[in-house]
Amino acid sequence: YNGFPRNWDMRYVRQDIVDRDAFIHGTFENDFAWGAATSAYQIEGGWNEDGKGPSIWDVYSHAGRIVNKQTGDVACDSYHRYKEDVRMLKSLGVSHYRFSLSWSRIMADGTLATVNQKGIDYYNNLINELLANNIEPMVTLYHWDLPQGLQDKGGFKDEAIIEYFNDYARLCFSMFGDRVKLWITFNEPFVVSWLGHGIGVMAPGISEPGSTVYTVTHNIIRAHVKAYHTYNDHFRSHFNGKVGITLDCDWKEPREDTLWDRAAAERALQFKLGWFANPIFGNGDYPAVMKRTIKSKSMKQGLSKSRLPEFTDEELRQNKGAADFIGINHYTTNLVSQKEQSVEEPHYERDQDIDVSYSSCWRESQSGWLRGNPWGIRRLLKWVKDRYNSPEIYVTENGFSDDGKSLEDNDRIWYYNGYINEMLKAKKEDGVNVKGYMAWSLMDNFEWGSGFTQHFGIFHVDFDTMNRTRTPKKSAATYTQIIKDNGFPY
Ligand code: NOJ
Repeated sequence: YNGFPRNWDMRYVRQDIVDRDAFIHGTFENDFAWGAATSAYQIEGGWNEDGKGPSIWDVYSHAGRIVNKQTGDVACDSYHRYKEDVRMLKSLGVSHYRFSLSWSRIMADGTLATVNQKGIDYYNNLINELLANNIEPMVTLYHWDLPQGLQDKGGFKDEAIIEYFNDYARLCFSMFGDRVKLWITFNEPFVVSWLGHGIGVMAPGISEPGSTVYTVTHNIIRAHVKAYHTYNDHFRSHFNGKVGITLDCDWKEPREDTLWDRAAAERALQFKLGWFANPIFGNGDYPAVMKRTIKSKSMKQGLSKSRLPEFTDEELRQNKGAADFIGINHYTTNLVSQKEQSVEEPHYERDQDIDVSYSSCWRESQSGWLRGNPWGIRRLLKWVKDRYNSPEIYVTENGFSDDGKSLEDNDRIWYYNGYINEMLKAKKEDGVNVKGYMAWSLMDNFEWGSGFTQHFGIFHVDFDTMNRTRTPKKSAATYTQIIKDNGFPY
């Protein structure tokens, strides 16, 4: 293994990368968190059982918006089979399990008026089962399944969501905080804003790229910050846990090593990761390049002010440092170059003057957006370290999709070896403060708009049988060995 797949097209690989790409030996520190990840809608099923209210994903999938009109009504049936899930985790030897809570299972319409004890019981049982097996829970509060009741009240477009989310977070902290020490407020808020409200390919399926995406993000950031301070003010002293947020980012590699392409790549990172990270982990505000670009475009459109909202001085102060760690979901790399001419479409600040593509040599997956390129993770982690003053980082997702036809998932094995080894380099050679790694995913599951056609699991799930039989793939054995070795000692 030299980090590159066979038939790697070296035309797109610069020499400095080739030189740094050799596999290294070494281990992580003893308290490194090794885990696997899932989310509620993708695995639980039981969509209307025991008092659970509908979420926007129930509504969206029932409207036939998913490939083959599939739904998550049953999914992996983890609502009934969570003990099997814990047995799988145990067999991997993980120290952590990252899963999410279904808000509308805990509060049927999303408000305190509809708290559902049976939903709380389910998560208590899961958490207790994990702890009995020496596995620490890492809990995501929001992994995209907003209660439909709150969507009906305006969802993330309305700032009332900040209080609703705070009520929900406070309830979860008080119910589970004695045993849950790692909290993630939001998973991939970029997807909620841009895919959910900008181009409408995820629930709630709204296409309003103009200013709605900025409003939605503004509300999500303020909701995160408020929940963070709630934990600080009311729970930290007795529970002593950590609260973070999980952001997704591909690595953006300049296509050519030129000033222009490097600047384009930096801008792409700021519009994707910086949009969320700069307010919380940077200076409290949106990145300067976003403020500048969106303001000037808004003016050109004849608006009286920027479509990007502003934080108040008080908010800027509250934002800054409002997280104990940053969760990073990372899957792939893009090549970025400066376009000769910027697109004059009014709303697409994000990609207006850059070209984004993949290198033909990166290993293809079953997902159009995902190509395996191990060194991307190292560069991204280093970028996060340099921009945000070396925060604690958890890689909260990383993984590879295939068509699920074979248990001999060699591409996935190549992917995990390569990415985890590059993460080791980030740690050892670049001094990145990475505290843990969660493989996506523990098992094949409902891959959102792609339904059950893209498989990310290290366990196979047989969706054709009622009992949703789970079987380890070859990658499960690889991951088990990496965990056991705590890296790559030999
Ligand atoms: C990120 C999301 O958080 C997760 O839900 C999804 O399944 C994976 N990426 C793979 O696309």
